[in-house]
Amino acid sequence: MSRVASELLLYCRPGFERDLGEEVADKAAEAGWAGEVMQEAGDGFVRFRVADERPANALHRALPLAALVFARQSLVALPPLRLDREDRLSPIIAQVVASGWSFESIWHETPDTNDGKALGGLAKALTRPLESLLKKRGALRRKGGGRRLHLLWSAGDHVQVGMSFPGNRSELPGGIRRLRFPQSAPSRSTLKLEEAWHEFVPRAEWETRLAEGMQAADLGAAPGGWTWQLVHRGMHVYAIDNGPMDKTLMATGQVEHLREDGFVWEPPNRLDWLVCDIVDKPSRVEAMVERWLVRRWCREAVFNLKLPMKRRWPEVVACLGKLEGALASAGVAAEIGCRHLYHDREEVTVHVRLRD
Ligand SMILES: C[S@@+](CC[C@H](N)C(=O)[O-])C[C@H]1O[C@@H](n2cnc3c(N)ncnc32)[C@H](O)[C@@H]1O
Repeated sequence: MSRVASELLLYCRPGFERDLGEEVADKAAEAGWAGEVMQEAGDGFVRFRVADERPANALHRALPLAALVFARQSLVALPPLRLDREDRLSPIIAQVVASGWSFESIWHETPDTNDGKALGGLAKALTRPLESLLKKRGALRRKGGGRRLHLLWSAGDHVQVGMSFPGNRSELPGGIRRLRFPQSAPSRSTLKLEEAWHEFVPRAEWETRLAEGMQAADLGAAPGGWTWQLVHRGMHVYAIDNGPMDKTLMATGQVEHLREDGFVWEPPNRLDWLVCDIVDKPSRVEAMVERWLVRRWCREAVFNLKLPMKRRWPEVVACLGKLEGALASAGVAAEIGCRHLYHDREEVTVHVRLRD
């Protein structure tokens, strides 16, 4: 049995395994790591087996989760186990003990698929007995450096054991941020902007970076789900869209609705936020946002790149590369983040913050 963890195990939205696999292979190669991507369409996770018997921990550190686009969670992992339904626990205990791992908590997880959901009961039933056995063996401890053991169940007899580390993981089960839909918001897309803020703006900074009295532009605003979030934070919003805006939102007096083309509209003065949810070619959206940022028309931006094409990763690389290059050559310092959020479907969310 392998004693050294030789794999990364990464969770994603089912259907995006190929994108995540390409991303991880590219980024690992850039960092000087060879390996093999293992993935099945629709599984909701991707494995990357490191070549040359190098420990996967170092690669895990070299690819921080926050810098990955398509991964919801990132773990260092042991090889998957096929279990006998009569005794599922013994092989798990043996593998964990042989790995020498110690940790403070154990999470049972399932892929974000219908099959996965059906396994919730099994995971629950195994929680107590597994905890007590691993405590006895000294692996589950009170002081385990914040490390967490994850068991990803992809079938009743199929589990993969992984480890996560504080500071380089999602703290959410399955890496999924579930948000409550605000009843007064006019569209479900409202959750995409709220999730983007949770992802890119630390909670302690919301009071200063998402503050009352700030000014924002929402391009492609109708019916107003994203505008609702901005208004809810007390901002004044230019809502740019030919389509109708929600009447209750307009009644707040915080929204100016302009029936103009979001690709050519220019703000009257420097704004705090630009957000854009227009469905168009990613390169066209990128070029428009780039113009805003190079001219410093806003301090921060959140925008979506819609990805209906088969190969999404090269499209994301091209758009982010173009943006980074343009900002660098204009001498505009910025932090750029891009993530495939839980509430995103065939799209990714980009966040940019200009440094003063
Ligand atoms: C996905 S919807 C936006 C949903 C919105 N974020 C919400 O939460 O309610 C896209 C919107 O972009 C608008 N749109 C498309 N092309 C546009 C353009 N060139 N300028 C402004 N709006 C545009 C459409 O009219 C549509 O309302």
